[in-house]
Amino acid sequence: MKLSIAIIFGGKSTEHDVSIISAVQAIENIDKDKYNVLPIYMDKSGDFYFSEENYLIDTKNYKNKKTLLSKCINVCFVKDKNNTYIREVNQKVFGKKLNKVVDVAFPIVHGTNVEDGNLQGFLHTLNLPVVGPDTLSGAVSMDKYVMKEYCNSIGVPVIDAIRFDKIDFENIDSIVSRVEEKFKYPVIVKPVNLGSSIGISKAKDRETLANGLELAFSFADIVLVEKAIVNMREINCAVLGNKFECETSVLEEPFGNDEILSFADKYMSGKGTKGAKSMGAKQVDGAKFTKSGKMGLETSGTKGGMASLKRRVPAELDKDTETKIKNYAIKVFKYLGCSGVSRIDFIIDKDTSEIYANEINPIPGSLAYYLFTPKGMSYSELIDKLINIAIENYKSAERLNYTFESSVL
Ligand SMILES: Nc1ncnc2c1ncn2[C@@H]1O[C@H](COP(=O)(O)OP(=O)(O)O)[C@@H](O)[C@H]1O
Ligand SMILES: [Mg+2]
Repeated sequence: MKLSIAIIFGGKSTEHDVSIISAVQAIENIDKDKYNVLPIYMDKSGDFYFSEENYLIDTKNYKNKKTLLSKCINVCFVKDKNNTYIREVNQKVFGKKLNKVVDVAFPIVHGTNVEDGNLQGFLHTLNLPVVGPDTLSGAVSMDKYVMKEYCNSIGVPVIDAIRFDKIDFENIDSIVSRVEEKFKYPVIVKPVNLGSSIGISKAKDRETLANGLELAFSFADIVLVEKAIVNMREINCAVLGNKFECETSVLEEPFGNDEILSFADKYMSGKGTKGAKSMGAKQVDGAKFTKSGKMGLETSGTKGGMASLKRRVPAELDKDTETKIKNYAIKVFKYLGCSGVSRIDFIIDKDTSEIYANEINPIPGSLAYYLFTPKGMSYSELIDKLINIAIENYKSAERLNYTFESSVL
């Protein structure tokens, strides 16, 4: 019997469109002889849609969402005794409408509300194996400040930052003086919980700091201002497994056209960058670039999602730096209790050779498959491993005792 895998994507996040690309790539590469795929699109209001046809796996169709949704079935997840199903929302009580068993939930989502433990918590209540992070590791990874605190506590260096709340923004002069007391310009201003460089800017003086704060606070209620590393290299390392057993990928060095890696650098390489700088583009242009499946090293304009970024794979590093980064990546992954595939991004200060953990992507763009292919692992093998890890985690949690006899009632 084939396992039914619900691949869930979209959601209420600025990275909604990027997630569609990541999910379509995974659906193209999952072994269909082994698995029965249920593509489930979550729109921005949190409604789930399913289609037996291929509407949901052709990115062109997302240009007109109204038409797309009219061809799909609005579904909900229902737990019924030992099984979990997707069922049509408008199902008549005795009607025989859509009712499909889900064996494993596979969220391929990026950003707020979906990658940050919220969707994971919901799926766990359905008593299903869930691919990827659990609620806590998703939440900690996606909060750039909390993540720094965790890293500090295990001796993984991070870049110093000040955390500001929306309420602080009412007194911008006080923010400016706190920043100027602690840091020299330039500084980086970033929303605490976004991704894809959305809402991030570099401030060189008071005026650009004020503009940067305004931008960042339009995307999040908590904003970080941190020391900018001026002369830097960025190195990313993915980790696959769970907290008991995991392996690193090869390392990548991404390259951008701007001072900071922008949304356009990440997803629109070679596509023109109009409107998609770090200001936060809502549309990912050029849907045809999602038909990837294959990957190229160094650079590409025809791959999809994160796989389209200009990069060097493997990154050219001395052995000592490479080992340090891999060890830090494993330490962070294990300590946070990550699962599936996460990508931990590092910044090296070229002036001091200091290595900093910059952020953790608990469900990275393109599931970072292109960092495992050079190790001889195909994308479908990676997906296979991810599903098996989720099943293992589920079995291990089932082993625990959820009963405590008492006379409390
Ligand atoms: N402290 C910093 N100094 C210099 N550049 C930075 C710093 N923090 C972030 N950047 C730049 O901004 C980009 C996006 O920041 P990051 O924290 O990775 O957020 P996101 O989750 O949006 O990817 C990084 O890839 C890097 O180019
Ligand atoms: Mg990043």
